[in-house]
Amino acid sequence: MPKIIAGNWKMDKRKKEAFLLMEQVHGHLARKTHQNTVIIFPPYIYLNSFNVFLKDQNSAIYTGAQNCSSFAEGAYTGEISAGMIKDIQCEYVLVGHSERRQFFHERDEELAQKITQAIENELIPIYCIGETLQERENKTYKTVLENQLINTLQNVKGSLTNLILAYEPVWAIGTGLNASKEQIAEVHAMIKQICSDKLHLKNIPVLYGGSSKPDNAHELLSTQGVDGLLIGGASLTSESFNRIIDIAETITA
Ligand code: PGA
Repeated sequence: MPKIIAGNWKMDKRKKEAFLLMEQVHGHLARKTHQNTVIIFPPYIYLNSFNVFLKDQNSAIYTGAQNCSSFAEGAYTGEISAGMIKDIQCEYVLVGHSERRQFFHERDEELAQKITQAIENELIPIYCIGETLQERENKTYKTVLENQLINTLQNVKGSLTNLILAYEPVWAIGTGLNASKEQIAEVHAMIKQICSDKLHLKNIPVLYGGSSKPDNAHELLSTQGVDGLLIGGASLTSESFNRIIDIAETITA
C-alpha cells in the first residue's frame, strides 16, 4: 500500500523561504518516480501561486489547506471557504488539528461542519485526533479518541469514503518525544476497528503525527497500521522532509 507523507508547515516560512522549500521538494520528487503520495500544507496565502507553479510543472506534489471554514459563504470576516480552496486547485484540507482545538477552541460539531464543507467541495479531509498527556496518563485516552471520532464523524453530511485520519498525540507534537511503536499500533488498530464497526467505514488510511523525523521515520512507517506521516517540524527543511520521502519509498518498494 502506498504511504502518505504530509508536511504541515503551520504558520512558518515567509514568502521567499516558502517558495524555496516548495521548489526543493518538487525538484527532489521530479528526479525520480515515487510510489507514495506527498502533500504539503503551507499557509493559505501561498497556496494559489504554489499551485500555479506545481500544476504547470506537472509536479507530483499535492497541496492542501491547514483549515477551512465551517460555513459555505457569507459574512464571516477572515474565514476561507472549502469552495475557495478547491477553486485554487488544492486537493486536501486538514481538519481538527490539535492546535486548532487548543488555540481556536474548535469543537466536534464545528469540525463535522468543516468536514461536510470539504466533502461538498470535493476536497479530501484529513481529520486529526489525539489525546493530551494527562489523558494518556490517566488512561482515558481510548475514550477521548473514540469520542473525537464518533462525535464528529457521525454528524458529517455526505460520504466519508475519501476520509483520511491522523492520530497525533498532543504530547508528541513538537516535543521531540514520539509515541512508541506499541502505543501507535494499539491506537491505529483501535481507530480502524471503530471506523469499521461503528461508522461502517472500511480501508480508511490512518496517519501518525508527532515528532516524526528522518531518524524515526523508518520505524514509524513500518509500524502496524500506519499508512503515512503528518509531519510538522521536520517538514520545514528540504533535507529532512526529502529524506523522509526517500525512507517511505524504501518501505513501500
Ligand atoms: P511535529 O508536528 O512533527 O512538529 O511534532 C506534527 C503536527 O503538528 O502535525
